[in-house]
Amino acid sequence: MKHIDIQVLRTDAAYIGKEVVVCGWVRTSRDSKNVAFLELNDGTSLKHLQIVLDKEILPEVSAFMPIGTSLKVEGTLVASERNGVEVNAKAVTVLGTCPGEYPLQKKRHTLEFLRTIPHLRVRTNTFNAIFRVRSVMANAIHRYFRERGYVYVNTPLITASDCEGAGEMFKVTTIGYSEDYKSAEEYYADDFFGQRAGLSVSGQLEGEMAAMAFGKIYTFGPSFRAENSNTPRHVAEFWHVEPEVAFAELGDIIEIAEEMIKYIISAAMEECPEELEFFEKFFEPGLRDKLKSVVENDFKVLDYTEAIAILEKADADFKYPVSWGCDLQTEHERYITEQVFKKPVFVTNYPKDIKSFYMKQNPDGKTVAATDLLVPGVGEIIGCSEREADLDKLLAAMNERGMNLEDYADYLDLRRFGSVPHSGFGLGFERIIMYVTGTANIRDVQLFPRTVGGIR
Ligand code: 4AD
Ligand code: MG
Repeated sequence: MKHIDIQVLRTDAAYIGKEVVVCGWVRTSRDSKNVAFLELNDGTSLKHLQIVLDKEILPEVSAFMPIGTSLKVEGTLVASERNGVEVNAKAVTVLGTCPGEYPLQKKRHTLEFLRTIPHLRVRTNTFNAIFRVRSVMANAIHRYFRERGYVYVNTPLITASDCEGAGEMFKVTTIGYSEDYKSAEEYYADDFFGQRAGLSVSGQLEGEMAAMAFGKIYTFGPSFRAENSNTPRHVAEFWHVEPEVAFAELGDIIEIAEEMIKYIISAAMEECPEELEFFEKFFEPGLRDKLKSVVENDFKVLDYTEAIAILEKADADFKYPVSWGCDLQTEHERYITEQVFKKPVFVTNYPKDIKSFYMKQNPDGKTVAATDLLVPGVGEIIGCSEREADLDKLLAAMNERGMNLEDYADYLDLRRFGSVPHSGFGLGFERIIMYVTGTANIRDVQLFPRTVGGIR
């Protein structure tokens, strides 16, 4: 159907005075004696296009009025003081009617209500804005890495090894419950892959293999976690950006992470000004100043040991007590980023016992060269580390954790055949979208969030 996007009509002055065809859905309508007005939206633009129906030309307008009705409108685009541009309609065709039971009648619904209609909530202004930012930022991520010579690789989603070792892997199987098997080994041997398999929690291990060949790689795809935690920041299926860089030490990868975050936030600021204005109005006052300040200032780098000292001295009522060796809880992360530094903070050199097996062991014997990037409002958005490049140290860490070395034989080969210092990180894509849009719940930055106890 030949038509012009509303975004184009709103921004390209060349169309003023021209005959145009627009399509879209009615967002609001108003009828009076001689004239009726429609706000039409085709999804290409956060702002609607006003359609003016002159009843001398179009005497019967009632079919065009119901909210949600889809229309094709032919008319003249004219400049308008209030709306920038509007269309004086000459002919209107109803493409699809929309009865009064359509749930999006009211102007503003709560996000909680909208979560009950995931297939329709995408039609609201809020979701239009969130998903445009999401799309622009996905594109910026690819651009950032491509401009710097990284190879984009796709790591498998079905895997036999658990990268994070946190027991959060979904099982992949074609065999249902059966009492025919005498042992787990027998059961897995009979299964599709002839061994235990699951959905990948991270592409890192395969990413490291690719980095040992291509030098600099990144992945950008889904990761899965059977995390039984019902929080505003966890979903069972999230999108994961994972660069892996050969010859990079912890300090180098921290620089890359900071530069990439600033690059993709700048892209959102440049390409989505109307959307950010919207979020600032409805979600987070001061959002744009926050983002500007993130882009213009250095992130804080804070040693874990210092972070613990700050938290121990803090005048705050923490639910989880703090002492050296403990994992930082959300309340601690928020205190550090929101109360103390009021900006993104890299916490570095965590105790080895609370982190993963593959992280480079520091000379102190107690900590690893790892860092989490924490941001105000969201908490951890990046998990990052230099990898242990020494075969013996890596084996020791795996044995300490009781890992089955056979499952990781290919990974261990990387340390046997030309091992080099290398580092990488994982950015939770939804978490950075939450930060940039001021969205408080991760369920609102995915089309169809998968969380414990619910799938739709
Ligand atoms: O900190 P994580 O577990 O690190 C890794 O998986 C490393 N293998 C990454 C690497 O070095 N290549 O996860 C990385 C990020 C977290 O900081 C968080 O932003 C996001 O992934 N994430 C989740 N996002 C939404 N829902 C969940 N359940 C998430 N789990 C992790
Ligand atoms: Mg982490």
